Amino acid sequence: MTSTVVENIGSLLTHDAERPELSDAAIVFDEGRVRWWGASLDAPAADTRVDARGGCVLPGFVDSHSHLLFAGDRSDEFEARMAGQRYEAGGIRSTVKLSREASDEQLLSNASALVAEMRRQGTTTIEIKSGYGLSVPDEARMLRLASTLTSETTFLGAHVVPDEFADDRAAYVRLVTGEMLDACAPHSRWIDVFCDNGAFSEDETRDIIGAGLARGLGARLHGAQLAESGAVLLAVELGAASVDHCTYLSDADVDALSGSTTVAGLLPGVEFSTKHPFVDARRLIDAGVTVALASDCNPGSSFTSSIPFCIALAVREMGMTTLEAVTAATLGGAQSLRRDDVGHLKVGARANAQILDAPHYRHVAYRPGVPLVQSVFVDGIQEL
Ligand code: NIG
Ligand code: FE
Repeated sequence: MTSTVVENIGSLLTHDAERPELSDAAIVFDEGRVRWWGASLDAPAADTRVDARGGCVLPGFVDSHSHLLFAGDRSDEFEARMAGQRYEAGGIRSTVKLSREASDEQLLSNASALVAEMRRQGTTTIEIKSGYGLSVPDEARMLRLASTLTSETTFLGAHVVPDEFADDRAAYVRLVTGEMLDACAPHSRWIDVFCDNGAFSEDETRDIIGAGLARGLGARLHGAQLAESGAVLLAVELGAASVDHCTYLSDADVDALSGSTTVAGLLPGVEFSTKHPFVDARRLIDAGVTVALASDCNPGSSFTSSIPFCIALAVREMGMTTLEAVTAATLGGAQSLRRDDVGHLKVGARANAQILDAPHYRHVAYRPGVPLVQSVFVDGIQEL
């Protein structure tokens, strides 16, 4: 592997406590890691030189929540919601039907195209969930396919109860915690449950997460998307790495999160496309809660692959400063995935970074909808 020096950087966001932001800077990547950064004038030589043309360099985004293995789309549902219809968890089943019918090649080509879309928008670490198979072979193949795209794979057999178990939910929970978990755990880092109205109850969630923890998987939860519930307290009690959505939070939820290591994953693409209220992130940040921003890219509630779009929404609608929103989409995402090697550009970090066609990260929110990513590095390799 060769070393690279990126020069002529207008502003550099490192997230290093000593020097979080620099101007007129350079950065050196070597052996896939950040080796040096500092003033342009002091930049050491490297095998390759890249000219940032005065643009901003910041860490690649860490998208800690996505559902990329699926077939078909549900644009008809989106249109109906824009005309006033409510989002229901049940729509998931129509994607399950199409996804079961799709070949491995179709599923992988759809997911790879979405990963490429994400990359073009600055995302370098991606969590991918199963959840549109809901049978032992289909969940296992989704996770096998997901693990060819990322190491951050999540078993979400408990997305909804599939139609064939509608009359016997308990049997489905037994399947998820038994044979399905056995087939999926080897391809999964995490286990997740959609704990909400129309999906799984708190008791069911406790059993499913407990079974996953016993198999050595880490816990994540979908909670409080559709209504206030005990899901957030349960996530904290179970030591989940994150509880995502958090659209409807009680004061007790905020208190519990603030004293915990559970990250609140905020998914403004969902609020945008379901017309639920945007989360008051200020309330969470002021209470000391760690927040992550993620796309939740899926065909139902949020069919966006764009973290810049999520950042713009967070700044416009959720009370976050641009720095808070960018931090939530980098460091926050890394914390949600319990990773310390990504989401920042301290010396020694993975060389996952992006160069913008804009002088400052503030432009990510200031210029919504504009493709500002000039170049992306993953493990020190310039992919774009
Ligand atoms: O995170 N909330 C549950 N799961 C997805 C939506 C899935 C769908 O509607 O297909 C979410 O929003
Ligand atoms: Fe989700």
